[in-house]
Amino acid sequence: MADKIARLTVDGFEGVIELPVYSGTEGPDVVDVRPLTGHGLFTYDPGFVSTAACESKITFIDGAKGILLHAGYPIEQLAEKSSYLETCFLLMNGRLPTKEEFEKFVGIIKGHTMVHEQMHNFFKGFRRDAHPMAIMVSVVGALSAFYHDSLDINNAKHREICAYRLIAKMPTIAAMCYKYSIGMPFQYPRNDLSYSENFLHMMFGNPCEEYIPNPILAKAMDKIFLLHADHEQNASTSTVRLAGSSGANPFACIAAGVATLWGPAHGGANEAVLNMLEEIGDAKNIPDFIDRAKDPKDSFRLMGFGHRVYRNFDPRANVMKKTCDDVLAELGIIDDPMLEIAKQLEQIALQDEYFVKRKLYPNVDFYSGIILKAIGIPSSMFTVIFALSRTIGWISHWNEFHSEPNKIGRPRQLYTGENKRDYPEK
Ligand code: SDX
Repeated sequence: MADKIARLTVDGFEGVIELPVYSGTEGPDVVDVRPLTGHGLFTYDPGFVSTAACESKITFIDGAKGILLHAGYPIEQLAEKSSYLETCFLLMNGRLPTKEEFEKFVGIIKGHTMVHEQMHNFFKGFRRDAHPMAIMVSVVGALSAFYHDSLDINNAKHREICAYRLIAKMPTIAAMCYKYSIGMPFQYPRNDLSYSENFLHMMFGNPCEEYIPNPILAKAMDKIFLLHADHEQNASTSTVRLAGSSGANPFACIAAGVATLWGPAHGGANEAVLNMLEEIGDAKNIPDFIDRAKDPKDSFRLMGFGHRVYRNFDPRANVMKKTCDDVLAELGIIDDPMLEIAKQLEQIALQDEYFVKRKLYPNVDFYSGIILKAIGIPSSMFTVIFALSRTIGWISHWNEFHSEPNKIGRPRQLYTGENKRDYPEK
């Protein structure tokens, strides 16, 4: 039901076009522009800077205030008090689980951590130096070849089992991508370990000795998973929703999300931050890189800085920075050169008029790479870990989309090509 009405007059068009205006529980009001097509008009918003593509109850971001809420709970409080799996339950169900519900949920996830043994053969087709994200996109898309028993997208139970399978199997697939790249045997999951301990075991364990996860690193890993879990209608989540609107199966939709996340403007930024810090190499080179980032003729961007929505600190970056200090202290890494450059780069950029005027602040990717590198994870695996974490966000939005009556997504365009013309007589 519209709360208000927007009235539009257009030169050359008779009368006033009335557009309903709706208010959410948080955030800006939205103008329902659907009546425009009846007047022969479209909206025009390349990059969807001002477009609400859907209604959602999952996550809210206030970019001006640097606020991120998952079903109303601030990300800072979840990072402090919750866990990745509890946040998965929250994102899927819109509420925190009771103790019993959480224990049951954890048990279900543990029951799905292995992948079909045939999937091991997929990896053999790749070169050992294939980028792990190329393998991840392929293997996730192939999951639908193994689960014909639960692909009815109109069946809520099928949608739920797909979510369980994806939450459970993404760490296994991610670790397999890493093991394959270093020529080591795959590690089977261990159900006696927590979600993040199990991931570290599959990444760094080997058949010759028992792997004892470091509790501080496991906690940091869980926090990294939690901080990347969901982020409203970002590029990869919007891709998953659009793919889902065609009726494609959930594994294909999640593979589309993985592919979208790979870009350096999006989830690929964490790997790009480390590459940038290594390219800077020494704090004395920072001014040159800042100048390049400000030069409109230079395509170089300060990786890990800026955001389409945040015009303030990314609240996840603040938590990530604290986690970074904890991990480096635990590992006895006192003067990590990358961290030094990152801290000086942050200070210089935050005082530079170009960045201040454009409200460009460090985002979630600025510090995560330093933590992952300190844990011993190569930069080529950073976006794989982001994809692992974001799978719950993707599948929660995909499920929300299919929980309501829906239509296939089909944007229109402003056509500026040739007018109709006839094929020339030969
Ligand atoms: C993620 O959407 C999400 O929620 C994403 C994400 C999630 O959790 O899903 O938060 C994860 O993708 C974080 C962002 C990771 N990307 C990077 O760190 C790459 C570097 N950042 C930029 O590429 C950029 O900031 C984007 C892509 C993140 C945002 O692009 P926009 O929306 O086009 O940037 P903008 O409109 O705010 O830019 C305003 C100005 C422009 O210059 P002018 O035209 O005004 O002269 O700021 C400039 C931009 O060129 N600018 C930068 C910059 N980011 C923006 N200049 C230098 N370095 C940068 N990093």
